Amino acid sequence: MTATDTPETTDVLVVGSGIAGCSAALAAARAGAEVLLLTKAERPDDASTDWAQGGISTTRGDPAALKEDIIAASDDTADPDAVDVLIETADEAVEDVLIDTLGIEFDETAAGELDYTREAAHSERRILHVDAATGTHILRPFLNHVDDHERIEVRQDTAALELITHEGRVHGVVSDEDATGTPIYAGTTILATGGIGALYSRSTNPDDATGDGIAMAALAGADVADLEFVQFHPTAYAGETPFLLSEALRGEGALLRNAHGERFMPDYHPDAELGPRDVVARAVEAEREATGEVVLDVSPLEFSDEFPGIAKTCRDRGIDGDEIPVAPCEHFLCGGVAVDDRGRTSLDRLYAVGECARTGVHGANRLASTSLLEGLVWGLRAGEDAATAGAEPEIVEAPDLRNRDPDLPERFAAEKFTRLQRTMDEFLGLERDPDEIARAGAVLRRLKGEVDAYIRTRTARDLYELRNASVVALLIARAAGENPESVGCHSVVEDEPAPEQTAND
Ligand code: SIN
Repeated sequence: MTATDTPETTDVLVVGSGIAGCSAALAAARAGAEVLLLTKAERPDDASTDWAQGGISTTRGDPAALKEDIIAASDDTADPDAVDVLIETADEAVEDVLIDTLGIEFDETAAGELDYTREAAHSERRILHVDAATGTHILRPFLNHVDDHERIEVRQDTAALELITHEGRVHGVVSDEDATGTPIYAGTTILATGGIGALYSRSTNPDDATGDGIAMAALAGADVADLEFVQFHPTAYAGETPFLLSEALRGEGALLRNAHGERFMPDYHPDAELGPRDVVARAVEAEREATGEVVLDVSPLEFSDEFPGIAKTCRDRGIDGDEIPVAPCEHFLCGGVAVDDRGRTSLDRLYAVGECARTGVHGANRLASTSLLEGLVWGLRAGEDAATAGAEPEIVEAPDLRNRDPDLPERFAAEKFTRLQRTMDEFLGLERDPDEIARAGAVLRRLKGEVDAYIRTRTARDLYELRNASVVALLIARAAGENPESVGCHSVVEDEPAPEQTAND
């Protein structure tokens, strides 16, 4: 920007284009604000929402039962007040936005009633779905709707690199629209940047889930919480390039078997295949290690009729028959930027919603099909609050992102990313050993130091994504190291000490 340029301003700036970002933009625009929705995504499927399979939970008229299930799945760690916000707003939000505004046609039974499905750790059938491709069917009309809205501008393929802050208050972001970074000033800024799947080599998220919002907020001094609770989905395809095999399959009767053909889940949890996700994921891994393989047996279902989308993916990948090899795979971060019941962070004028936020709803382990719902509910609440907060854009000094150093080694970001993923896979996966967490912290600190040497020398998106991933990876390592208690997704195990040698050995 030159001295004569007028900086760009907006009332509400939303960063991210999944269900949480779209909901925030919609609510802010409905409340009268001019909204700019910035997204690094180029296509809908760059957002995790588009990949969501199972569905979106409702209370189906029994909020107390949903609350009980959420809290039980979280190992009694979910915040009951946050869960109350979710269950009290859930059905109205689904009805208003998804059904009345977007016209989403959720699957129906032959009798023309809504077809509620069930997933693990739900005591009731209460999940609305469209085949097992619910995210796609929600996100695409939602993006079209916000794009058509007269008070919302959607700007794709544009990443936020840094928050603009001044005296503890957030005034917008610097985007990567030109080589030295472009400041965009906003009355309020809402982060809806999604999860962290790219920190692991196997994930059910798109590749660009690099924890951007969490990193930018943490670097600006915002509180973060519960970052050790990285949720692994028990049933992703075990081969190369994993894809999700929705929990709805088990909800409808699919079974898990080990390499001996034995059904093992009844030995691990009274609800067997429908036990909490963290329990099932660890059991699948244990049986893979003990017997060599775990498969999802879909023979109890009419697989192709009931789940045509997943069945087609299997056929396209050359997976024939009723037994699909599965393994756990990174799926969702339960923690994130700490927010209140309206998505407000600890920094003035900064909000966070969706997977990058920690509302308290998920505690240490998220119940299936509550992530789209949380994104919808908190997105709407934050959007409305941000629009009515009475905050005007203020022009303050923005971080100076100059292009200074032409000598960044080629493939630098890709190679460091591989090292980061290896560290996360090895030391911060399903089970964590305290010594290994400490080792991971040391490796990640070194890696972040190497990345920091290049940050602010250029606005290359892949470099900022690597910076963001290394910040969040370190925060995860730190949170894991500070929590010695096994709870939910955070399972602490001490490696067996090597047997002592005796004189006779
Ligand atoms: C699934 O379909 O298994 C995923 C649902 C979720 O993570 O909420």
